[in-house]
Amino acid sequence: MFPPPYKIKAVEPIECPSQEERQDILKSAHYNTFLLPSSKVYLDFLTDSGTTAMSDFQWAGLMMGDEAYAGSLNFEHLEQCIRDIFGYRYIVPTHQGRGAEHILSQLTIRKGDIVPGNMYFTTTKIHQELAGGEFSDIIIDEAHDPSSEHPFKGNVDFKKCEALIKKHTPQKISYISHEACVNMAGGQPFSLENLRELRELTNHYKIKIYLDATRIVENAHFIKVREKGYEKYPLVSIIREICSLTDGCTMSAKKDGLVNIGGFLAMNDEELFTQAKAMVVIYEGLHTYGGLAGRDLEAMARGLYEAATDERIVAHRIQQVQEFGKSLLKADIPIVKPIGGHGVFLDAKRFLPHLSQDMFPAQTLTAEIYLECAVRAMERGIVSAGRNPKTGENYHPSLELVRLTIPRRVYTQEHLEYAAQGIGQVFQRRNKIRGLKMTFEPKQLRFFQAHFEPLR
Ligand code: F0G
Repeated sequence: MFPPPYKIKAVEPIECPSQEERQDILKSAHYNTFLLPSSKVYLDFLTDSGTTAMSDFQWAGLMMGDEAYAGSLNFEHLEQCIRDIFGYRYIVPTHQGRGAEHILSQLTIRKGDIVPGNMYFTTTKIHQELAGGEFSDIIIDEAHDPSSEHPFKGNVDFKKCEALIKKHTPQKISYISHEACVNMAGGQPFSLENLRELRELTNHYKIKIYLDATRIVENAHFIKVREKGYEKYPLVSIIREICSLTDGCTMSAKKDGLVNIGGFLAMNDEELFTQAKAMVVIYEGLHTYGGLAGRDLEAMARGLYEAATDERIVAHRIQQVQEFGKSLLKADIPIVKPIGGHGVFLDAKRFLPHLSQDMFPAQTLTAEIYLECAVRAMERGIVSAGRNPKTGENYHPSLELVRLTIPRRVYTQEHLEYAAQGIGQVFQRRNKIRGLKMTFEPKQLRFFQAHFEPLR
């Protein structure tokens, strides 16, 4: 293992509540880890979103905020940075990723359209549906198999893609929604070879590709280490190449952008840019701040440069995740393979094979992990998948996972070893674990606020 490419300048104390306390806290949080107070969590692996430790260079940038309502200097920095790294012509800042997804969906999806994509993401899909579209999965089958060791499980299956285009006609396809390091598949990258072929196919049918660039640096790192011919490429060149094969992107900079808040929409089409600028002022803020303070734009520009140019940051981060996954594998704990970029995903179906999917095995496991060691994880299974808006039926996704997401530059090796031990304890007593039932369900994105109680 190589050591972190940084040292620690400020620390944040954390506390571990006692076993009895955890029992009461979990009950008050209705067995939903999203409803736990963070002060009662020892290690927070809920998400890698907005949880990054910023560098001193980024913190210094916060003091350089130009808080002008219009034409902030920090926006110019961000615009230049995105042009340099991604290569897109036009940039619309948004408060976070879903702000960009909202604008893109409203402007490009018509009622009854199909939006094919390499697996759904929760917020992306809901914005596609709210705009009248229907998401359709075109990822390769291996992505739905937690034990397949395919190195590029984020790849598109061209047979699925072309069949969909022929069935619905190209006019009914809004665009291809293409996610880097597919979150719901376990942080799995696509290859450049696959994207190049997708570009050819979509050129043939005159269909656009919009990238979800949220974890593009991690995807580029995997291309560098796994795809033949790219070993010596700088990450920035790989990122540029990915972007050059797409028509634009949405990005939540709260992940690979190394900031606590921020996002953007970028594109090459001037007409779409004009429309997006008109829309951002309604929902986010003026087109030169998009719901962010000038200082946030500066931290985002600096974070993006740092992430793309200091290659040790992503290499160390992914190494940390890989080592954590390996320590779970050593204890025979079933996880998604290959180990992903932003976290380790437990396979709840194999961890708790005695629970049916309607007993919420992944949700149950997140609750048990909190009880055991005050580590907070996230359900990524039937609760996250929600219901089909047309039929009202629960989707039953093939993947029923618990995500242990590692924040960037935040935890040490000892923290990860502690978590691995705790999860090992839960695994030892897995046969005694009972499921949950849902007692309250919000209409949309239910996983954030749903209530559960233990099955008797
Ligand atoms: N796309 C992907 C792939 C994401 O992972 C997220 C957020 C978004 C879009 C939306 O971005 O949160 O800035 O509005 N993922 C977080 C997570 C919530 O925990 O995985 P946002």
